[in-house]
Amino acid sequence: MHIEDRGYQFGDGVYEVIAVVGGHLVDEAPHLARLHRSLAELRIPPPMGDAALKLVFRETIRRNGVDNGIVYLQVTRGAAPRDHAFPKAAKPVLVVTSRRSRVPNPRFGREGIAVITIPDIRWQRCDIKSVALVPNVLGKQQAREAGAYEAWQVDRDGNITEGTSTNAWIVTGDDAVMTRAADNAILNGVTRGAVLDIIRREGYRFVERPFSLEEARAAREAFLTSTTAELLPVVRIDGAPVGDGKPGPLSLKLREGYLAHTMSE
Ligand code: PDD
Repeated sequence: MHIEDRGYQFGDGVYEVIAVVGGHLVDEAPHLARLHRSLAELRIPPPMGDAALKLVFRETIRRNGVDNGIVYLQVTRGAAPRDHAFPKAAKPVLVVTSRRSRVPNPRFGREGIAVITIPDIRWQRCDIKSVALVPNVLGKQQAREAGAYEAWQVDRDGNITEGTSTNAWIVTGDDAVMTRAADNAILNGVTRGAVLDIIRREGYRFVERPFSLEEARAAREAFLTSTTAELLPVVRIDGAPVGDGKPGPLSLKLREGYLAHTMSE
């Protein structure tokens, strides 16, 4: 990495994390679509076409011998003498890496995980998958130190936006699955989209709107989603049990559905 890479100096870049399951990329198309959206919002030109990028993904997976793991992609605005405004000459810098990794501890899926809640101190464009992640880093560390898996961030209106690297969901008392609509306050998760497809297909009740911390505390079930977490039941919020403190039946069904989806391409 160049010492004057703008990703390094300004966090001026975007990224994607794509799961590799059984040697194939999970939901590659929506990840590429989101990459293009993030790039366009930051006015960074795509470093190469999608067909070439897909070849790079496959070659990176092959050379690293990755059957199950992730592909990480990062595009920054490029390297140029330090100046906040866009450089005239810089060309976008692409990095693609891949590594084997284990899925989350299966115990987390069976027994659920704990989250804490923290104020959302991020900027107003969390829909862009920017590499500038310091608030997320601090939030995740706070969760770790509290013995929790994730920190759910709460906006000024008292509504939960999302986790530091995951989307947040609840199941209400009348059995409706609820998650915030994909506005500027959250990342529109690819896993979120896949789970929404399952919800529609299976005909579960669904409401897309912001929910408050109080609603989360009173929820029947809760869970979170991301490429690396897959779908994990949330059984404690700030130390208090969600429902009966065990993973909810709907969460477990959706988890099964999502795991089947990752293996089905
Ligand atoms: N994180 N919200 C935030 C803030 C995220 O960083 C992520 C992904 C998600 C879930 O998005 P998806 O379902 O597309 O993975 C939601 C990735 C995995 C990461 O930073 O490692």
